[in-house]
Amino acid sequence: MATVDIRDVRKNFGSTAILHGVDVDIADGEFVVLVGPSGCGKSTLLRMIAGLENISGGQVSIGGRVVNDVPPKDRDIAMVFQNYALYPHMTVRDNMAFSMKLAKAPAEVMDSEVKRAARILGLEALLDRYPRQLSGGQRQRVAMGRAIVRHPQVFLFDEPLSNLDAKLRVQMRAEIKDLHQRLKTTTIYVTHDQIEAMTMADKIVVMHGGHVEQIGAPLELYDRPANVFVAGFIGSPAMNLLPGVVTGGAFQPDGGGQAWPLPPDARATEGQRATYGFRPEHLSLVAEGIPLVVTLIEPTGSETQVSGKAGSVAVTGAFRERITARVGETIHVLPDPALAHLFHGETGHRLNAA
Ligand SMILES: Nc1ncnc2c1ncn2[C@@H]1O[C@H](COP(=O)(O)OP(=O)(O)O)[C@@H](O)[C@H]1O
Ligand SMILES: [Mg+2]
Repeated sequence: MATVDIRDVRKNFGSTAILHGVDVDIADGEFVVLVGPSGCGKSTLLRMIAGLENISGGQVSIGGRVVNDVPPKDRDIAMVFQNYALYPHMTVRDNMAFSMKLAKAPAEVMDSEVKRAARILGLEALLDRYPRQLSGGQRQRVAMGRAIVRHPQVFLFDEPLSNLDAKLRVQMRAEIKDLHQRLKTTTIYVTHDQIEAMTMADKIVVMHGGHVEQIGAPLELYDRPANVFVAGFIGSPAMNLLPGVVTGGAFQPDGGGQAWPLPPDARATEGQRATYGFRPEHLSLVAEGIPLVVTLIEPTGSETQVSGKAGSVAVTGAFRERITARVGETIHVLPDPALAHLFHGETGHRLNAA
């Protein structure tokens, strides 16, 4: 196991800057998820840690050793890719033993390492099969087995579940997390899926356009997003984000309608442009509040999502209680002001007290 320190790391492809100075500290044994929209630079950063891309600026250290100029095979890392990259003409056993074979490991070491990995992953009965004879989830497990046999200091995963169907994805998510709890190997996991990030990470790094937007524990990001981007990216259904102005001790959204109650710790001045945020589940049905003309009702069973218009402002709520209103009718809602967020109108930075 090892720490990983990413210090002011930059990447240019030709004259195009892709990563603009990324800093992340990863503790020994930590499970860190890099999350962000497609194209934000997650895979590039992971490949730089692996040594598959050179580093245009800054430093990557693994276990306290700067590895900028260390070739991938000497970094003591193992990477699992989205497409598994299994050899189709080799059995599960040979796929898992392949890296040891290249390193000319003794046959009994290969045998015991493959058995250990197969036991950890529940693959014992499948060792003589070929990849085409396996399900997607089993193939994914073999790909992990190839990483485990190497006893790496760090596991790197790049969207390893995106080729699986939704149900299997949830199951494999739990398996990878369980594996980490047993092996406690430092892990860096890339995904564009914020639910995967929330459920798996000790620590999430939210990336956007080659920058780090925020680093924190899943619920820290959920409860106290540092800016409008993180607020809108983490959470499903997404946070309501209304542009407008702070006036008379309340928030007046653009497009009119009633004013919304400010969070008590908001640091804003009269007349300031701001973005007001509240999560759908923090909206309550009340007898007297902000009128919302219902435009869409989506029951999921455990809750009901209601979209509507407050004046001309689109708002979504998620309610545990059953909704009797119909489309076109008016309900009254209020957000819990203590759970509301206020962001700077231009910079998007959080304006709630620290
Ligand atoms: N080899 C390359 N040459 C030029 N541009 C690249 C190369 N690899 C990635 N990019 C660009 O870098 C950006 C980040 O890509 P990537 O790290 O794959 O994003 P993510 O994994 O977050 O979807 C994208 O705009 C992509 O087009
Ligand atoms: Mg990628």
